[in-house]
Amino acid sequence: MLLSQIKDRAERLAPRLLEIRRHLHAHPELSGQEYQTAAYVAGVLSSCGLHVQEAVGKTGVVGELDGQGNDPRRLAIRTDMDALPIQEGTQLDFASCKLGVMHACGHDVHTTLGLGTAMLLSELQNELAGNVRFIFQPAEEIAQGAGWMVRDGAMREVSNIFGVHVFPSIPARSVGVRYGALTAAADDIEIFIQGESGHGARPHEAKDAIWIAAQVITALQQAIARTQNPLRPLVLTIGQINGGRAPNVIADQVHMAGTVRSLHPETHENLPQWLEHIIASICQTYGARYELKYQRGVPSVQNDPGMTQLLEAAAREAWGDEHVQTIPEPSLGAEDFSLYLEQAPGSMFRLGVGFADRPNYPLHHPRFEVDEAAIITGVVTLAYAACKYWQQG
Ligand code: NI
Repeated sequence: MLLSQIKDRAERLAPRLLEIRRHLHAHPELSGQEYQTAAYVAGVLSSCGLHVQEAVGKTGVVGELDGQGNDPRRLAIRTDMDALPIQEGTQLDFASCKLGVMHACGHDVHTTLGLGTAMLLSELQNELAGNVRFIFQPAEEIAQGAGWMVRDGAMREVSNIFGVHVFPSIPARSVGVRYGALTAAADDIEIFIQGESGHGARPHEAKDAIWIAAQVITALQQAIARTQNPLRPLVLTIGQINGGRAPNVIADQVHMAGTVRSLHPETHENLPQWLEHIIASICQTYGARYELKYQRGVPSVQNDPGMTQLLEAAAREAWGDEHVQTIPEPSLGAEDFSLYLEQAPGSMFRLGVGFADRPNYPLHHPRFEVDEAAIITGVVTLAYAACKYWQQG
């Protein structure tokens, strides 16, 4: 039977996959600089007979595996390869050998999953009625890589796509699936406020940019509560603020920068006008000028019901109901996987990497680790879901 065949082959590949993961973990590369990782990925893919294209989306790699049937539908599996500017704090033998760079988001595991699934499916080509395209993207952490890959044609002729992200609060050997929204739309904002300087003792002769900025921040947070639909989440964080030169001088300029997260497409659509209206009304009231820079980031990841069902069915069959959770709430984090979903319906699932006997650190923490048992769970789930893909109508 196909599933037990896939599991046996995955077990046989396990030592090699551990080796790959540990190699990648020890040699992390920052977003957009994944040269050695890409060359390594291309080498593994070529060695198992895939057609490989390098330098897609700058430092991305695409591998194409031909199926034996003539189903025109092409399935893509996307993984990401970049690391973070974090100094690793684990005591692992294979800890990062690069100062200040660490795979703290598990993209080393993702790359291993892509390679492992490619290795496994290349041994089962007669089970594939159509082609599988493996997309190894760079620069996910800066939300750029998916756009680069799409621009360079990585999604051309792709009918559907799967993605995966490790998740430390789900135990290893389990997966989480979610129907609908998985992550939020994330946009960047910058607000400049121009007032007028003056003596700290004579406020009536000045236009205090710091005080006006404080009004703007307060008004924005209150307006979320009073003007936005509370059933459609919206988070606005001003993470940076600068202004003023001396304790007794009224500041003429303030610069603020932040991030805006939303889930509902309508909320997302209307955000620039909404912000502009509030900022403008306060600045007008107190005679300041302003500038708002609104930079659209990535949209929300909206998982397709059919593709999610396929993943869920494959995982339940492979691991049993107790190892498959339906994720109850979306995250307000962001993921550029959404840019592939604009091209073709698909689904991203969460792979548990939590330890049974100790708590895990969160993603992006210097001491984040994964229970490596998850690698087999991920590879089998992806490979089996891929085989089942062409069996459905
Ligand atoms: Ni990540």
